[in-house]
Amino acid sequence: MGSEKFGFLIRVSLISSFLICLCHGYVPLNNYLINCGSSTNVTVTGRVFMSDKLASNLLTSPSEILAASNRNSNSDIYQTARIFTGVSKYRFSLAKGRHWIRLHFNPFHYQTFQMGSAKFSVSSQTHVLLSDFTVKSRVMKEYSVNIVATDHLELTFAPSGDSFAFLNALEVVSVPDTLFSGDPSFAGSPGKFQGLSWQALETVHRVNMGGPRVTPNNDTLSRIWEPDSEFLIEKNLVKSVSKIASVVYVPGFATEETAPRTVYGTCTEMNSADNPTSNFNVTWDFNVDPGFQYFLRFHFCDIVSKALNQLYFNVYVDSMLVVKSLDLSSYLYNTLSGAYSMDYVTGLAKQTNRIRVSIGPSTLHTSYPTAILNGLEIMKMNNSKGQLSGGTFLPGGSSSTTKKKNVGMIIGVTVGSLLVLVVLVGLFLLCKKRGRDLDDHSKTWIPLSSNGTNSSSNGTTIASINSNSSYRIPLAAVKEATNSFDENRAIGVGGFGKVYKGELRDGMKVAVKRGNPKSQQGFAEFKTEIETLSQFRHRHLVSLIGYCDENNEMILVYEYMENGTLKSHLYGSNLPSLSWKQRLEICIGSARGLHYLHTGDSKPVIHRDVKSANILLDENLMAKVADFGLSKTGPEIDQTHVSTAVKGSFGYLDPEYFRRQQLTEKSDVYSFGVVMFEVLCARPVIDPTLTREMVNLAEWAMKWQNKGQLEHIIDPSLRGKIRPDSLRKFGETVEKCLADYGVDRPSMGDVLWNLEYALQLQDAVVDGDPEEDNSTNMIGELPLRFNDFNHGDTRVNVSVAREGKIQEEEESSVSDLSGVSMSKVFSQLIKSEGR
Ligand SMILES: *[C@@H]1O[C@H](CO)[C@@H](O)[C@H](O)[C@H]1NC(C)=O
Ligand SMILES: *[C@@H]1O[C@H](CO)[C@@H](O)[C@H](O)[C@H]1NC(C)=O
Ligand SMILES: *[C@@H]1O[C@H](CO)[C@@H](O)[C@H](O)[C@H]1NC(C)=O
Repeated sequence: MGSEKFGFLIRVSLISSFLICLCHGYVPLNNYLINCGSSTNVTVTGRVFMSDKLASNLLTSPSEILAASNRNSNSDIYQTARIFTGVSKYRFSLAKGRHWIRLHFNPFHYQTFQMGSAKFSVSSQTHVLLSDFTVKSRVMKEYSVNIVATDHLELTFAPSGDSFAFLNALEVVSVPDTLFSGDPSFAGSPGKFQGLSWQALETVHRVNMGGPRVTPNNDTLSRIWEPDSEFLIEKNLVKSVSKIASVVYVPGFATEETAPRTVYGTCTEMNSADNPTSNFNVTWDFNVDPGFQYFLRFHFCDIVSKALNQLYFNVYVDSMLVVKSLDLSSYLYNTLSGAYSMDYVTGLAKQTNRIRVSIGPSTLHTSYPTAILNGLEIMKMNNSKGQLSGGTFLPGGSSSTTKKKNVGMIIGVTVGSLLVLVVLVGLFLLCKKRGRDLDDHSKTWIPLSSNGTNSSSNGTTIASINSNSSYRIPLAAVKEATNSFDENRAIGVGGFGKVYKGELRDGMKVAVKRGNPKSQQGFAEFKTEIETLSQFRHRHLVSLIGYCDENNEMILVYEYMENGTLKSHLYGSNLPSLSWKQRLEICIGSARGLHYLHTGDSKPVIHRDVKSANILLDENLMAKVADFGLSKTGPEIDQTHVSTAVKGSFGYLDPEYFRRQQLTEKSDVYSFGVVMFEVLCARPVIDPTLTREMVNLAEWAMKWQNKGQLEHIIDPSLRGKIRPDSLRKFGETVEKCLADYGVDRPSMGDVLWNLEYALQLQDAVVDGDPEEDNSTNMIGELPLRFNDFNHGDTRVNVSVAREGKIQEEEESSVSDLSGVSMSKVFSQLIKSEGR
């Protein structure tokens, strides 16, 4: 620490009283840390997790199974676990008061126990913490429960059905009395919430705005704070500020326990670029489970003003104004850089799966308009039944299916392509199976014939959509959002039905996809879409906000994607053409989404309908993969049930899949290769108006690629703007994707890496002289940059959506594949396909 900073700290502590600086760290009265399944103690950032042996007197369990992973290491709480084959109880003697309960899970295989498929519930005497919980990758769940009426805490682990439960480590630790006290205000409505002390809380998001991830060793209560960039809607509207040393804890307002200095000392600030007329909000979007109320704690500290009373700003929750013209310095008795926290409770149980928090300038500002936020905690509150879990997990990300423009044109193309389809199927494909196929908007529907469910003809069938009822949206709310399916709000037609733009009561823009209730079809896709999307959360996958099955409706509600389909930006519209860099970034985004699907679970999910019309773009042109109606797990399932009807979209279809009827994730890689050509050439994948050799884009472009003359057929608007190296890399990558045999194609992870490389090659020319094709120089220096993040492991590059859960450590590209057993969901789908 520099002496200047040190001097400043001393001054600060004088101002704010010595006590606060000297009593370093809160010492919890009760502090049980258990290293489950392990025979040794382990110290993690200064905290000792005791051996399971020492903890065994706290536990009553019908079995004694201590599991260790192959990667047994004595210094990691995640490499051992205890397995509970029947109802098991921990009993902790405690002083009354609030306690953290932290449950650490890291599923691995041990003998016959596949922890990734374990399903169980966890409850205290008073509250249900987890119900029918399944965990696919390492996760820590944090709760705080007040022990009011007794002197002990009883934690019960109960396997669901004939499954089992497991646990890698457990913390039961006192929380300072003052941390959750008082009556928080309702966000956006008058009055106060009473009875906070009876609430069990689950930490859903704990975020350090504008700063790094804060780990337990930097927090006196061993909490984890995530950075906010994943949640920010428009990153280019903000800047990060860091002035950790200037934070002042004013007695009576906040202490180091409220939030550490590293949280108060950094913020995300509205970037008004010193423009006195700037007027916009900075918004964060957080995934939550619908059906619950939430406790929100804002952390503020004015580290941006130079003097008192300069900063005035508004705070909104779900578009409702909660504080107008907040002036931190006057709240804090004229202290600048004082730590301040504010608590709110959402008025009603959330109807949607997200909470949107915004800050924006107040009309009162004195110098230039700005607004800040330093930290935010979002905690789920138990419902009236004392539950924190209704059995399902959250979905997330954002987005939708929208087909914005030129509906007529799209239909035209569809009809045209169908004609070609008929011709081509006859001409080229001497395959045995009828390819009941389809272009863009004419899918084959799979009626659900097994299990006695009989498509959508009666309202009760849809009740079989497993445990996803927390996504159910009332029809009245959907009608309100779309003005009763107002035709003026229709933005497109898909195979499933019409798509409408709508707005929910909380201001969220949505795309509402309404299945044709008369069609008696589409139920399987409806179901698959809900089941797939409600389990996957990723920045580059569209997320479902909810569904509605009232009155035999089949309605899917997604977040609205401002910029529509990738396809509409390539051809057939008047939209401005995308730059090469934008196109590469879109390819990279969608490749990430697919890579996540393919690697997200021991059973990969195959999308089966990858095409430019299923890649959607948000307001910042960020790509998200949409339309999971055809997706399924594979390839294991297909080996037992070869030959299902070939599905997908014509022009994108993997010829090997056609020949062998065997589905693997390499079929998606093939289709993605076709999308890449589409992106490069900006023309339809099948264009019947062209000469025969040009009709099929993949064939035609491969001819040019083989000749090494791909540049002849690129989108005219890209002429002279693609760096030859970048184009070469891109062309080679497509070529590999389009290999005849799946085994010869790269994985999506490899494709992703190659695309990143193509982008770097393009960037290099922008940095240097755009006129000069100086390839040898560049190749020389680039690999160094690449080695940094490659090492043959493309996963390190893949962004991880980890909303909704606090993850102990970022481990791989894979996370959060929670939820019900995929195989169960999909096996039903597959059974129904044999025709
Ligand atoms: C976290 O704590 C360590 C010491 O335990 C310190 O070196 C480091 O600078 C701290 N990090 C932050 C972001 O405060
Ligand atoms: C900020 O958001 C609120 C709530 O959505 C809205 O009422 C207000 O007009 C927004 N302000 C600006 C400048 O966009
Ligand atoms: C949470 O559970 C407690 C029971 O411990 C109950 O008294 C309280 O009303 C519940 N909270 C809500 C908001 O229903």
